[in-house]
Amino acid sequence: MQVPTSSFEKISPTALLVAYARQFTDIPYGQELAQLVNAQAFVEQLQKQQSDKSFEVAVLFEGRYKAINQVMAQFQTTQILELASGLVPRSMVMSREPSTTFIESDLPRMITCKQQLVKQLVGDRSNLHFVGIDATSQPSQLPIDVDYLDSQKPITVICEGLCCT
Ligand SMILES: C[S@@+](CC[C@H](N)C(=O)[O-])C[C@H]1O[C@@H](n2cnc3c(N)ncnc32)[C@H](O)[C@@H]1O
Repeated sequence: MQVPTSSFEKISPTALLVAYARQFTDIPYGQELAQLVNAQAFVEQLQKQQSDKSFEVAVLFEGRYKAINQVMAQFQTTQILELASGLVPRSMVMSREPSTTFIESDLPRMITCKQQLVKQLVGDRSNLHFVGIDATSQPSQLPIDVDYLDSQKPITVICEGLCCT
């Protein structure tokens, strides 16, 4: 199922741009997510305005994704909270490991859309959670007191890119 063009309003334009660029890398699910949200159509709109830099930045986004994975591997935590996850495919890869608890978060409309996309690609997983929060909110909305996290174990909090408008 393709997400219709009208869904752009639910998906952050910057998340779409990053998702489009990620399809040119070997990051797992990068291509599938870009196709599901029809990132191509979004970028074609940008190209009409001559403001698309997807090819130049693809290598940057690929490096950023892999660098974060490399740092995470050093800590080997089994509880991960990703902020402003947008269309990053990391949760689908890391939650293949049943002992890992992965929480994706983004603004409410975006995370609802992401949850549907992930469900289409890998189905429901009991160790993969989706939470709609404003990462900049005070007091904090971070879901660290939820019953599916073990308070005795560390939580790795990651964020690849958060653009507040
Ligand atoms: C540039 S995109 C990056 C998405 C993803 N981190 C990536 O690297 O592909 C920015 C993301 O931040 C989210 N965002 C913007 N403001 C936010 C906020 N106050 N709290 C949580 N997420 C936010 C947007 O919905 C969007 O998904």
